[in-house]
Amino acid sequence: MIKVSPSILAADFSNLIKDVNDVKNGGADYLHFDVMDGLFVPNISIGIPVLKSLRKATDMFLDVHLMIDRPHRYVKEFCDAGADLVVFHIEADEPQDILSAIETVKSCGKKVGLSLKPKTPAETIIPYLEMLDLVLVMTVEPGFGGQSFMHDQLSKISALRKMIDERNPACELEVDGGVDAQTARLCKDAGANVLVAGSAVFKKEDRAAVIDDIRNA
Ligand code: DX5
Ligand code: ZN
Repeated sequence: MIKVSPSILAADFSNLIKDVNDVKNGGADYLHFDVMDGLFVPNISIGIPVLKSLRKATDMFLDVHLMIDRPHRYVKEFCDAGADLVVFHIEADEPQDILSAIETVKSCGKKVGLSLKPKTPAETIIPYLEMLDLVLVMTVEPGFGGQSFMHDQLSKISALRKMIDERNPACELEVDGGVDAQTARLCKDAGANVLVAGSAVFKKEDRAAVIDDIRNA
């Protein structure tokens, strides 16, 4: 079963809870929360205070995607702020700090994931794979919503599906960037089971219909 995780980066922040309730009522499985620090990516978005407020306002599963430099410094704060799943980038820290960040998130009782930028090979996940609840494949360069899906990432999704099936079948495989009903089909065929969609969901009036279209693509 495909899970859909709408990215609030494309929501109306002056009416955030309205948009969140809209996708919740529309059947979204997770809510994707993009954190950008202006260093790891060339953009700045939202962070800990917004996550804390959102945690009080919704019971949705909060899928927090950290696009920040040296994430081990902040993962505990994001757990304490109410994340259900904390995903950070394999490129953003030294291997020993990636390991300690994974351990920190687990010791907080939260789910943990690692994300790969488009140019990062699938094999880089191998040393960590057995410790993870989720692997996130970026199908755009991280930093901005509304970009076009990179079809050359489909073979990486298939390769990761194979590694996950062999080494940690319970691990989820999430895709983020340029996902709509058309590209959702390609991701699903390549083996993804969680699909993030920002613009495709929030720029449409009927969010429930888009969520259904993505899930059933
Ligand atoms: C991009 C973010 C994405 C973004 C996706 O760096 O990680 O989650 O919101 O937006 P769309 O679906 O518009 O590509
Ligand atoms: Zn994201």
